[in-house]
Amino acid sequence: ARAWRGVVEEYRDRLPVTANTSVVTLNEGGTPLVPARRVSELTGCEVFLKVEGLNPTGSFKDRGMTMAITKAAEDGAKAVICASTGNTSASAAAYAVRAGMTCAVLVPQGKIAMGKLAQALVHGAKLLQVDGNFDDCLELARKLSVDYPVALVNSVNPYRLQGQKTAAFEVVDALGDAPEVHCLPVGNAGNISAYWMGYREYADDGASTVAPRMFGFQSSGSAPIVNGAPVEHPRTIATAIRIGNPASWVYAEQARDESGGRIDSVTDRKILAAYRMLAAEEGVFVELASAASVAGLLQAVETGHIARGTRVVCTVTGNGLKDPDWALAGASAATTVPVDAPTAASALGLV
Ligand code: F0G
Repeated sequence: ARAWRGVVEEYRDRLPVTANTSVVTLNEGGTPLVPARRVSELTGCEVFLKVEGLNPTGSFKDRGMTMAITKAAEDGAKAVICASTGNTSASAAAYAVRAGMTCAVLVPQGKIAMGKLAQALVHGAKLLQVDGNFDDCLELARKLSVDYPVALVNSVNPYRLQGQKTAAFEVVDALGDAPEVHCLPVGNAGNISAYWMGYREYADDGASTVAPRMFGFQSSGSAPIVNGAPVEHPRTIATAIRIGNPASWVYAEQARDESGGRIDSVTDRKILAAYRMLAAEEGVFVELASAASVAGLLQAVETGHIARGTRVVCTVTGNGLKDPDWALAGASAATTVPVDAPTAASALGLV
């Protein structure tokens, strides 16, 4: 076995690079597809988790960022900019370091997880908290990239989705074929669009016999695609997907309709329950937004939109360590003991 080289080298012939392209990478991708015993039991489906929190900066964004920064470097960019609910900024900041670029980041003030803020700062990004939501940040980032010498690396940059489609290739390569259903959270709607591109490409080339039905899930307080209208003041505890006017709205609807899938909403309460269940019963610690895929699957099985016996992959998009507050919120404070075995044993319930 040879070492994993990152998504651009691994899938070079399927990506918009040439032999001369010098790739900016942190060896992202190659993430595990973990059988989910408990979720399978609960749903009667055969469920796998694509654990994207194991990417270099802890989310799926690295797949797109290696492509976007590689192409920005090829085009001679010295600086990049993004709007973010946290993960895109963490990823952009890290890959900008690799490329020797400066990175500017716009985040909604007070609405991003501490770990993500820490990542952008430790990688030296120039970070502004904007007095507005993610949609306002994206509008501002777009304007700045038009009027100033700075390249936009949000998923409206087409190279981002090209990189992110490699996750679908990995799923098919691991399973030997596409699953019947793929579930994932939807925020700015780039990832569901990218997966669908990847699955369709493999199916068209005969690398898989089928393409899955794509199921996307928004939080009910931030569900513009489900509602059919932008949400001016999106609300959800899952800050990563607190987005009221997704940039890839049209592509996401295409993915849904071409695949025979569905975009639905799940309540924050169900997201939180799925988050706790994944940690406590699967041993997989994800961030809140990521749990929307599993919360959505549970709901879709309940409502009959996904049948028992279906082979399902759920993408869990980000690492739980990015936002430990929600893990601590559900836990009782640890007991303090002296350095004494009988006392510790009794406190642990071993006697
Ligand atoms: N899950 C996580 C952990 C995310 O960070 C995001 C998006 C999504 C799901 C939704 O993916 O936007 O492609 O539909 N985060 C972006 C950011 C918006 O700025 O980090 P999407």
